[in-house]
Formats: sequence, structure tokens, C-alpha cells
Amino acid sequence: MAREQSGISAEGNLHGQYLLFDCQEGNEAAIRNQLQEISHYLDEMAELYSDVAFSAFIAIGASYWDLLYPQSRPALLRPFPSLEQDDRHAPSLPYDLFVHLRSDRADINYMVSNEVCLMLEDLASLAHEVKSFRYLDNRDLTGFVDGTENPKGLHRQEVALVGDEDNDFRGGSYIHIQRYRHNLRKWNKLKQKQQEDIVGRTKQDNHEYSSFNKPKTSHIRRSGLKDEQGNPIEILRQSMPYGDMQEQGLFFISCCRTPLNFELMLRSMIVGDNKGHYDHLLDYTQAVTGAAFFAPSLRFFAANGQ
Ligand code: HEM
Repeated sequence: MAREQSGISAEGNLHGQYLLFDCQEGNEAAIRNQLQEISHYLDEMAELYSDVAFSAFIAIGASYWDLLYPQSRPALLRPFPSLEQDDRHAPSLPYDLFVHLRSDRADINYMVSNEVCLMLEDLASLAHEVKSFRYLDNRDLTGFVDGTENPKGLHRQEVALVGDEDNDFRGGSYIHIQRYRHNLRKWNKLKQKQQEDIVGRTKQDNHEYSSFNKPKTSHIRRSGLKDEQGNPIEILRQSMPYGDMQEQGLFFISCCRTPLNFELMLRSMIVGDNKGHYDHLLDYTQAVTGAAFFAPSLRFFAANGQ
């Protein structure tokens, strides 16, 4: 069975740690072996630390995939869709590997991160690292609850995992990440009602605006898309806030059985509709990174190691 990696459709928890690696060329065989080891190790940790809901996944960069696994490629794997419109940008900053670790204990995340870095020593260099945290009752640092309309229960897996449509990659997931840096000074100058109009939900009670009252420039109007039959276009968001007293933002993560849904949402936010309605949240936050990956099933790693 093509079992998914534990972190893909896991429920939210308190702490996250994200490791982004660039791999040295020529090390592919050794890296394939290490990824088999690491995926097995992470699976063991998920069992050992199930009491603190430890979960993890490893994802391979879209432009690194062919070098690492030249025999086969997920059908829809493609680079991050970098976009630019007026002063809104979605830059692309590719990485070779993304290791996503989460649990309710920052010390466990630290310990496992350390082990993963040791296992990749001399093969890959750690290009970027971010620690994230739950803020209050699952709020983004703008003060709004984030994740409310995420798929629930078993539907999380239906949205996030590749199925029969690409049998060799069943149980895998297309991953997009963007690190957003908020301008909270500017955001906090807005009146609460102005902030609510930008998000499309109330701040304290997290009530969704009625369709009639939801501005075309609100975040949930721009990201809550439907297909031609009226069915919702969905992604599973695993985003969490990060930051300190100098820099704050959201580490946005999308997991989905197709890259198309994220691409459509991002375009709708940045470029907007044919009347120029873009997502006004983007006047207060800016993506500083963007990368596309594929997180294969545990079986894939096991079959492609030594
Ligand atoms: C700084 C960046 C972002 C912030 C602060 C943010 C915050 C939020 C908040 C507060 C909500 C409402 C509650 C909820 O349903 O979760 C929401 C909804 C949503 N966001 Fe974002 N988001 C950001 C970026 C993105 C991006 C880049 C995408 C996809 C490309 C996205 C997709 C969605 C979707 C699909 C929903 C649910 C819409 C609905 O059906 O109501 N978000 N986001």
C-alpha cells in the first residue's frame, strides 16, 4: 500500500520546524539512500512521539526531481508559478529538499531536525530554516483565525493525496510553499472593520461574511474558488505563523493532489479578475519565497533507496 508520509494530512499542532536544503550535484545515489533512511526514521518518530502528535514529510523540489529520480516523474510536477502584477509579486526561489516537521514540543522538533541534518551532512547544505508556532486560537499574526475552511476528516486525504489518476505516485502530494512577510505596522493602522473587509470574515468571532457582503477584493473571495460545475476548488493548507520582534509572517504551505488548484488561487489573488479585483491582503503582506515540491509516499522512498 502507498502509505502517505505522516505530516501531509496531519491535524494542526503547536510547533513547526522547516528545513530547506540545496543538494550537491553528483551525490544523487547517496541522497536517495539517505532519503529512504530519513523517511523511515521520521515514520518511527511519528509513532514514538504520537503523544505529542509528531508528524513529518520530506518533499523533493520540482527542478531537482529529474536528477534524483530520473526513471519516473509525478505527472503534474512543475516549477513554482512565479507571478508579478503591479506591486504584487510571487517570487520563485527553488530548493532541492523540504523537510517539514511538526509536533506539540519544540524540543522534539529540534532533536529530529538535528538528526536529519546529520543524516544529510556532506550531501546537502541547509539553505534556510524556519520555526513556526501556533498563535492564540489558531490565528495568523494579522489576528484572524486561519484554517477554518480547510478540508476536514477523511476529506483532508481526498484533497491532499494523489490517487488512481497517477498510480505510480499514489499517496504522494504536490506541495507549494511561500514565506510571507507581513507589514503589521501598516495592517494595525487599519480599523477592525477595514481588516474584516479585506479578509471577508469577522475578526473576534471568525464569522464568514455573507456572499452579498463579501468584497470581490477580500481574501476568501479571491481564494475560495469554484470550478465550472460549481464544485469547490480545494487545497489542504498546513500554514503556520513564524517570526520574532523583527520580522513576522506566515509560512504558507499547500498540499494537494494536483498543483493546479494552488496555481489558480494564487493567480486569482495576485492578478485578480478581469475587473482588476485582486486580493487586498497583499497590500499588507509580501511573499519573499516560493517553491514547488512533490512529497512521495513512504513506499516510493523505500523502493528507491539501496
Ligand atoms: C499571508 C498570506 C495569507 C494569510 C494571512 C491567509 C489567511 C487566511 C485566513 C485568515 C483565511 C480565513 C479562514 C480560513 O478559512 O482559513 C484564509 C482562507 C483561505 N486561504 Fe488564505 N491566507 C494567506 C495566503 C493564502 C494563499 C497564498 C492561498 C492560496 C494560494 C490561500 C488560500 C486560502 C483558501 C483556499 C482559504 C479558504 C477560502 C474559503 O473557501 O473560505 N491563502 N486565509
